[in-house]
Amino acid sequence: MQRLAPALRQDNVPLDLISLIKTILAATKEISFRVSQADLGGLMGSTLDENIQGEVQKKLDVVANELFKDILLESGFVKAISSEEEDTSVAGNAVGKYIVSFDPLDGSSNIDINSLIGTIFSIHEAPEHMDADNPDMFKQSGNRQVCAGYVLYGPSTMLVMTTGSGTHFYVLDRTHGGYLLVQRSVRVPEDTQEFAINMSNQRFWQAPMQNYINDLLAGDTGPRGKNFNMRWIAAMVGDIHRVLCRGGIFTYPKDSRKAEQPYKLRLMYEANPMSFLIEQAGGLAMTSQGRIMDIEPDSIHQRVEVIMGSKNEVEACLGYYK
Ligand code: F6P
Ligand code: MN
Repeated sequence: MQRLAPALRQDNVPLDLISLIKTILAATKEISFRVSQADLGGLMGSTLDENIQGEVQKKLDVVANELFKDILLESGFVKAISSEEEDTSVAGNAVGKYIVSFDPLDGSSNIDINSLIGTIFSIHEAPEHMDADNPDMFKQSGNRQVCAGYVLYGPSTMLVMTTGSGTHFYVLDRTHGGYLLVQRSVRVPEDTQEFAINMSNQRFWQAPMQNYINDLLAGDTGPRGKNFNMRWIAAMVGDIHRVLCRGGIFTYPKDSRKAEQPYKLRLMYEANPMSFLIEQAGGLAMTSQGRIMDIEPDSIHQRVEVIMGSKNEVEACLGYYK
């Protein structure tokens, strides 16, 4: 099985980007170890703090964030980082070539129940004309990502990553301590009979999403003429991983409860990197209005509607919005 660096060189990834990716992965190896230690490391449970999004921070959220931040800022490769757990961007090396956005631990509510969690990251080139402490550097669309990926801390620790030449799967091999390529150029099946949505929010969705899901639930005697299965892991990394492995549609739609905040998922470190991975695997990653990666962001913690996965199913869903 191929090691990470040769696999990346085969895709013509520049050497400095390979070094940055290796730096990110060094942090994930430590997080993977700490996650596996659970209560033995005293890292279960919540802190007394909330992040900028008003969510209670788990101890592991904070530890993972600090680890990432320190290792990235010390590396010299990055001009700035932005994280779900940081109010604004944090400056690094003034001449660093890249900026990194990350969700250090996605699916935090799964931490205390020993279920799936992961780290999501997205890399852009740093604009040369802006200072390292200028958060406007992060206002770049998903189309301009040079690399995106996640690490899933599951029964095995897996890296799923793209640099724009397909989406590849790697597994952390604990015998030598590195990631090995296990599947090159994964393809999302175009058709599916599986959907992922938090059904408990149904009454707050817009009419098109209500109608679409009702038709899926109607099964083989309804307008779709086939039965659908439902899965919900409550960690985007877990749900998107399943979609990449066997197809499906994953959506977190618009919600009518808070007019000022109708979406849940964050563009920069959740929706964009997952969109890059899904599109590189032949799937679609949309809002009801257009491609996610075409969105020109206006803030680091911006939220967005998400409808992604198997091509034909995403198109079927979008048909209800026309
Ligand atoms: O990071 C946000 C997140 O935890 C995603 O990973 C996940 O898909 C979603 O929120 C879960 O939402 P809910 O709490 O509604 O199940
Ligand atoms: Mn998250």
